Amino acid sequence: MKLLITGGAGFIGSNFILYWMKKYPQDQIVNLDKLTYAGNLENLKDVEKNPNYQFIKGDICDKQVVATAMNGVDIVVHFAAESHVDRSILSPEEFIKTNVEGTLVLLEEARKNKTRFHHVSTDEVFGSLELGTEDKFNEQTAYDPSSPYSASKAGSDHLVRAYHRTYDLPVTISNSSNNFGPFHFPEKFIPLAITNLMEGKKIPIYGQGNQVRDWLYVEDHCRGIDLIVRKGKIGQTYCLGGMTDDISNLRVAKMIAKIMEKDLDNLEYIKDRPGHDVRYAIDWTKAKNELGYFPQFSFEQYLKKTIEWYQEHEDWWKRVKSGSYQDYYKKQYGDK
Ligand code: NAD
Ligand code: TYD
Repeated sequence: MKLLITGGAGFIGSNFILYWMKKYPQDQIVNLDKLTYAGNLENLKDVEKNPNYQFIKGDICDKQVVATAMNGVDIVVHFAAESHVDRSILSPEEFIKTNVEGTLVLLEEARKNKTRFHHVSTDEVFGSLELGTEDKFNEQTAYDPSSPYSASKAGSDHLVRAYHRTYDLPVTISNSSNNFGPFHFPEKFIPLAITNLMEGKKIPIYGQGNQVRDWLYVEDHCRGIDLIVRKGKIGQTYCLGGMTDDISNLRVAKMIAKIMEKDLDNLEYIKDRPGHDVRYAIDWTKAKNELGYFPQFSFEQYLKKTIEWYQEHEDWWKRVKSGSYQDYYKKQYGDK
């Protein structure tokens, strides 16, 4: 099988390529990535010389590049996106361009040969659940995005579904919760918290830190996508979530500080994010019943493993945290 992975140099895409090439060494992988600030080929050092792996530096909005990359491909697994909510609040345009227009370019090319298309999306398209309830998102939940990021992902989900209904394109969609694990870009909460503590800085907590996320270890997400690619029903959406009960951001920060043997003076409450979704939780019963999906990695245990990974890969995140990332960091957090 030949797969086109878009955004394969990012956090989840690179984990997925490493996962896939280990599990299915006979398959061919083409990785199409623009290498934005979030794309890092260092993540893929272990496979870069593998004859079954090919990297194409290019933009999913570029029709010609996409046509070349999709040549002879059996399935597209589409990760490429602008992915950080806070950046989308500062400058939304790029999110619409890549997440909506880029997805459209890919779908148009896929339509020519009815190429199987798996779209990787987020639970953020469903908006926010109430704190203190047992409610969970599932495949029937109405779309209600809060941020330019989630609105752009919602737009891309709608396009993918429309291409199935209108053109009979063989698509599937996954809406997953917040991932964590190796190669997570240190602008997102967990790797930012870990690396800030390692640098002697504080963990920035938005508002009171009472917001809740459903944390999914990235390898569980990769296995969920693998199951959908192999066994998912065409035209269907699957929600993929983690093992966690409700854990607030504040609790996550305290857990990280405790594991890293730092005291709680290292937490700093700052201005809340506008339109901040207060609670995410995922009901993954459909994926379990139809595909045998279940998350295997507990939050507590794999948070510790993730912290160890960042401690062992200081060079990786120090390089990532330098350069253009610094400009963004200053805009978001000032000189903290
Ligand atoms: P990321 O920001 O770490 O990586 C995105 C990758 O896409 C980068 O390598 C970047 O260079 C590439 N890219 C961006 N614009 C591009 C363009 N125009 N053309 C080609 N490549 C481009 O993101 P991530 O966290 O790995 O997320 C991957 C996907 O999973 C996204 O679609 C995101 O919406 C979705 N998702 C992420 C999470 C999460 O917790 N991180 C949860 C659910 C869903
Ligand atoms: P993030 O990793 O940006 O993921 P998302 O917003 O897509 O869920 O943030 C996770 C949670 O952590 C979210 O509720 C916002 C919060 N947060 C902070 O409290 N401080 C920070 O510096 C960041 C980046 C996030």
